[in-house]
Amino acid sequence: MSRTEVKYGINAYRFALLEAGHIGQNISLLAEKEKLGCCALGGFDNDKLSQLLDISQEDEIPLYAFSLGNPAR
Ligand SMILES: Cc1cc2nc3c(=O)[nH]c(=O)nc-3n(C[C@H](O)[C@H](O)[C@H](O)COP(=O)(O)O)c2cc1C
Repeated sequence: MSRTEVKYGINAYRFALLEAGHIGQNISLLAEKEKLGCCALGGFDNDKLSQLLDISQEDEIPLYAFSLGNPAR
């Protein structure tokens, strides 16, 4: 976030959310192309996901997650 704030100031958080949406849309489109199941997830445990991704919560925060996999036949 601090790096984004240097560039975008007061708009940093809003732009980060918009960017997460763009990335999420691209993941969804690619999953469709690859015939993978795809589920957008926002209701995750912030602390656990940060730990799993090894990111510091001071400067990086998980915004958006996706579950991908082969759909049941
Ligand atoms: C931004 C966003 C966050 C979401 N977060 C969750 C979530 O935390 N848990 C969940 O079960 N579904 C979540 N959903 C919805 C799922 O991605 C999915 O659309 C929903 O489970 C409906 O699937 P279905 O139509 O196949 O039943 C979220 C959707 C969006 C767009």
